[in-house]
Amino acid sequence: MLGNFSFCNPTKLYFGDQALQNLGDELDRYGKNVVLIYGGGSIKINGIYDEVTAILREKGKAVAEISGVMPNPTVDKLYEGVAIARAHHADFLLAVGGGSVCDYAKAVSVSVHCDEDPWDKYYLRFEEPTCETLPVGCVLTMVGTGSEMNAGAVITNPHAHLKIGHVFADEKIMPKFAILNPNYTLTLPHRQMAAGIYDIFNHICEQYFSGEDDNTSDDLSEGLMRSVIDAGRAANRDPQNYEARSNLMWSATWALNTLLSRGKSTDWMVHMIGQSVGAYTNATHGMTLSAVSLPYYRYILPYGVKKFARFAVRVWDVDPADKSDEQIAGEGLARMESWMKELGLAMNLRELGATEDMIDGIADGTILLTGGYKTLSRDEVVLILKECL
Ligand code: NZQ
Ligand code: ZN
Repeated sequence: MLGNFSFCNPTKLYFGDQALQNLGDELDRYGKNVVLIYGGGSIKINGIYDEVTAILREKGKAVAEISGVMPNPTVDKLYEGVAIARAHHADFLLAVGGGSVCDYAKAVSVSVHCDEDPWDKYYLRFEEPTCETLPVGCVLTMVGTGSEMNAGAVITNPHAHLKIGHVFADEKIMPKFAILNPNYTLTLPHRQMAAGIYDIFNHICEQYFSGEDDNTSDDLSEGLMRSVIDAGRAANRDPQNYEARSNLMWSATWALNTLLSRGKSTDWMVHMIGQSVGAYTNATHGMTLSAVSLPYYRYILPYGVKKFARFAVRVWDVDPADKSDEQIAGEGLARMESWMKELGLAMNLRELGATEDMIDGIADGTILLTGGYKTLSRDEVVLILKECL
């Protein structure tokens, strides 16, 4: 294991088809003024809104609502939510939705009592909150981001063509609790389910493709990846399969709750490029990742060939006999590619509305990180993006 580290994740998870029964007791711990935050209306169609608001009424909460939080929530929507939470003297923020709604709630949490512009402070200067923050709880309806158990909050500034994630250092920004009922995810459109499956898988890859030491975190990652591959196939064949959907939900949470990155460096360049693609196209997060992954991994493979070969054997069951590391690694990525196609993922950027003239801007908006097998230059990002078109 690399270096010295701490691990603390205070989010309490309630999992299973009866998980919502715990919401009332959790709400008892916080003040009367609750802001209920949700997206474009899926929770009104599938009944989750009625179930949650019944509990809020039963607990005598004074409720204000922030509705219409869009996928890839914008900075303007953040300003609007901050004003609502301030006017309501909010004690608690209850997010009911997917990663966008959970991320957004965290962004509101750190902004309500902040005198500065939250975009400048948290997303351009990457500062930590210096004000009081509000507690957040989460009822999850879409699986993928891990936002339900982490301190990440991704916000898009469409005016500046920037989509930036801030992973707050203080674990108090993590949700206080998360209600995880796999049945809630059954109404997701197939495309969102598939995007979420790939998001989980890629979160694990981002933390796996780095380092050369023998590291327990990598063994945990391999187990989780195998589970996501199998459960992803089963859910793709039969989206109503509770067993598969529950495995995906649990894997998603553990894929990005800081466990897998302990004692390791991490890569995260697929996300950096994917986010910048998102800033230009507003495409579904998981699809931006699937569209850039293979060209990126094939580009960095020579710099981390041993790990890619290990990935092929341990995750994709490639037979290594009489093959070079390069051959084994290549076969692993080929198997990953067929799995991605089986799920119906976007395999190039044109499918997402990206065009050649956006490439320079996307490359400019890509944050270059140094933890993976190859530190990319801006020109290399351009090269990879051209491969992705
Ligand atoms: O808005 P509604 O009507 O609810 O519809 C949503 C939305 O259109 C729909 N949906 C959610 N649950 C549903 C449902 N439809 C039917 N039935 C349900 N049960 O799904 C659509 C997508 O929802 P969204 O929340 O946008 O998806 P996701 O969970 O993938 O979140 C994406 C956001 O999270 C960020 C992404 O960048 C993006 O902004 N990320 C957050 C991370 C974190 N906190 O650590 C890490 C990730 O890498 C990611 O960057
Ligand atoms: Zn992601």
